[in-house]
Amino acid sequence: MGKKSSSSSYSSGSSSSSTTLRRRWRFFQPRYYGKRPKRLALLILLCVSVTWIFYDRQSLNRDHQEEILRLQEEVANLRSALEAIHDHMKTSAETESIPKHETETSLHTKSTSAEDNDSICEKRRQKVKDAMLHAWSSYEKYAWGTDELKPISRIGVDSFGGLGATLVDSLDTLYIMGLHSEFQKAREWIEKSLYLKKNVEVSVFETTIRILGGLLSAYDLSGEEVFLEKSKELAERLLPAWDTPSGIPYNRINLEHGRPTNPRWTRGSSILADSGSEQLEFIALSQRTNDPKYQETAEKVIERFRRIFPADGLLPIYINPQTGINPTGSITFGAMGDSFYEYLLKAWILGNKTEAVKYYREMWETSMQGLESLIKRSTPSSFAYITEKLGNTVYDKMDELACFVPGMLALGSSGYDPEEAGKYMSLAEEAYTEFNFAACTDVLQFLPVNTN
Ligand SMILES: *[C@@H]1O[C@H](CO)[C@@H](O)[C@H](O)[C@H]1NC(C)=O
Ligand SMILES: *[C@@H]1O[C@H](CO)[C@@H](O)[C@H](O)[C@H]1NC(C)=O
Repeated sequence: MGKKSSSSSYSSGSSSSSTTLRRRWRFFQPRYYGKRPKRLALLILLCVSVTWIFYDRQSLNRDHQEEILRLQEEVANLRSALEAIHDHMKTSAETESIPKHETETSLHTKSTSAEDNDSICEKRRQKVKDAMLHAWSSYEKYAWGTDELKPISRIGVDSFGGLGATLVDSLDTLYIMGLHSEFQKAREWIEKSLYLKKNVEVSVFETTIRILGGLLSAYDLSGEEVFLEKSKELAERLLPAWDTPSGIPYNRINLEHGRPTNPRWTRGSSILADSGSEQLEFIALSQRTNDPKYQETAEKVIERFRRIFPADGLLPIYINPQTGINPTGSITFGAMGDSFYEYLLKAWILGNKTEAVKYYREMWETSMQGLESLIKRSTPSSFAYITEKLGNTVYDKMDELACFVPGMLALGSSGYDPEEAGKYMSLAEEAYTEFNFAACTDVLQFLPVNTN
């Protein structure tokens, strides 16, 4: 069969082979493109592309080589810096071993370094203040009186019901930083423009911590009555939220009409953190007005939680405000759980750690034992992190909001005996390291490592 085909191709003769040759080389003849402008354009495009790719690769190569040289230089610099540090450590170790009467010069150095320290602190303080002024003046320019400034589109938005959340929440910062003209301007806005009988539905929790808390801090710092007046009016508008058989509040309310509700996505449930994070503000308001009803209302919630408190002190995040029993949902120190635990500790501190508020501390300590059961360590790096739980299933997931836990442990550690305090402080440090290490995301998901 092979033989047959070769003989037939041979017999097609030399005339056909010269046509094939001409057809093959036709692309290189100008005549060919004269008749076909589209192909000519294609050819030009092809030439340009090839040239471009060639040059691009060459410059890319050059860039890479420059980058490599730069990195090598940097490595060399770091090496010499490391050596300098080693040398310095050796010298300072030697200096320390020198007896006292010989250290006149080093004493002198110490006093100058304290001066340096002062000026460094001063500079840092100024930088923080500059950052505040930058943010504040942008808010003033683009979003005055609204809840938040969107930094990219530079428009103000009312994400918390339009009560000037940023303005109110910043009052204490302005005051502490000595930005008095800014503070006065904000105070005027509150006096003249903060209208609370507003036909909007707001989050009871957000309104309490941002607006009520902001007003009360401003009152404490400045002593100006307007802040306390507004605090009272706002609290009165929020109070109907607690008007439930269990005392556990609804989490949303219309500021004009009352009519509390819960968000649709919780299917009627109230949220643990939303319901258990108004105590500080409401207790503070009662202390300042001598009207106990705010404190009583907020503390009734904790008493209810105390009655259903589990042995490990970890409450699921959803609870029915009608029945106030059988909470459901996950257990978390992240969103929807977080500040309930924080407020237990801080309410104990606000109550001067007296017998009357001891139950807050006891509940908190129980929850901290529960917290320990949620701590896991990553492999192979062995960083401590806080898991979440739904029923008996543990989720290796850590919410960014859980990053308040190290601070809370540090704050609460002083109420323990030294041994327990040390244990919780080292847990705080471990978890703190973990957050610094990976605090660039909303949620950390820990995946099992294949150790092979
Ligand atoms: C530096 O200043 C801070 C704040 O004033 C102070 O706490 C710290 O002890 C000082 N350190 C030295 C080395 O003087
Ligand atoms: C806590 O102590 C402070 C200062 O002594 C006092 O002004 C305040 O009334 C006390 N608060 C409570 C709840 O005992």
